[in-house]
Amino acid sequence: MHERAIGYGGMADDHLPDPAPPAPTDPRLPLNARQVFKLKKSWKGIKRNMASTGVEMFVRMFRGSDDTRALFDKFRTITSEDDLRMNETLENHGSKVLEVIDDIIANFENYDDVIHTLTVTGKMHKNFRGFTPSMFWRIEDPFIRAVMLTLGDRYSDNMDVIYRILIKFILGNLEKALVAELSANST
Ligand code: HEM
Repeated sequence: MHERAIGYGGMADDHLPDPAPPAPTDPRLPLNARQVFKLKKSWKGIKRNMASTGVEMFVRMFRGSDDTRALFDKFRTITSEDDLRMNETLENHGSKVLEVIDDIIANFENYDDVIHTLTVTGKMHKNFRGFTPSMFWRIEDPFIRAVMLTLGDRYSDNMDVIYRILIKFILGNLEKALVAELSANST
């Protein structure tokens, strides 16, 4: 049997000590420290491909949903998917939505910052005619599919769990902020 010298309180000489466990996240956040660490690492792959991921996300959100496309003044008249893919405004739009998500991931340790960003962004959608709070959920699946496509093999089952929790948290808070804003304005 292979034996290693392990002294009292020591460790195998061919092993480094385990790194210190990451500091726990705010319990109001839906991901633990290890999941946040993995998310930040994985997100680098999206950051390098922000424009194409954003286009993919929007194209998928519009697919088979003319009433979603109709919410966007600039895309209302563009019906061909190829034309949408080449549209520069769509690319900018997709990137802007992903930049909000990027900001949330970058500041994930700070619950108050995250909620602030989501509240401001959610409320802002009251300015878009025809938009209702539940419509935020229309981007859930397109977001997952676009991230999956960009990350390819790097999109593991574990990352799938993490990205799904993340997008549900984001959309739930955007919806909540807009509901609160609309009901505050109606009283
Ligand atoms: C993660 C979810 C979302 C985030 C973070 C988000 C964020 C944003 C941001 C930052 C803008 C401003 C873009 C700009 O200045 O060009 C915007 C505009 C807009 N968003 Fe969202 N959004 C989300 C989901 C959605 C969904 C699902 C819809 C539609 C079903 C939607 C409809 C709109 C519309 C109609 C505009 C105005 C576009 C225009 O200028 O014509 N958003 N959104």
